[in-house]
Amino acid sequence: MASRTFAIIKPDAVERSLTGRIISWIESEKLKVVALRRMHMTKAEAEGFYIEHKERPFFESLTGYMSSGPCCVAVLEGENAQERWRDIMGATNPNDANEGTIRKELAVGLEKNSVHGSDSEDSAKREISYFFSELEIV
Ligand code: CMP
Repeated sequence: MASRTFAIIKPDAVERSLTGRIISWIESEKLKVVALRRMHMTKAEAEGFYIEHKERPFFESLTGYMSSGPCCVAVLEGENAQERWRDIMGATNPNDANEGTIRKELAVGLEKNSVHGSDSEDSAKREISYFFSELEIV
């Protein structure tokens, strides 16, 4: 059954003009981009989004980076979208990512890892509704 997940093309990838390449990559994997917006997150918006990492040592740096420049937020739809998007991205740390994944090919490092994807169906619901209203998903 088709389901949805949430994706971010992070500031390091947008800055290097990789937005189109990543969108094509998603579409070639038969995931539909059913919502898409370019935006520049405020620090507070990044903190709210990553609230589950609030106690982690990298929280300040991560939220500073995510608010350092424009990113693209998106909703992806397809068979098993949440798990498949995680597989297409590869491991969080590009050094651990498999060949042929976005992070292996494009990421700069653990923080500047080019893309984000929800880590569960519940996170997907929360993350989609953090950035999009139901009317914007078509
Ligand atoms: P993301 O999938 O967006 O989820 C949390 C982000 O924190 C992660 O990708 C990385 O960009 C960043 N991060 C920085 N340091 C770490 C770390 N030590 N472990 C996990 N994530 C980290």
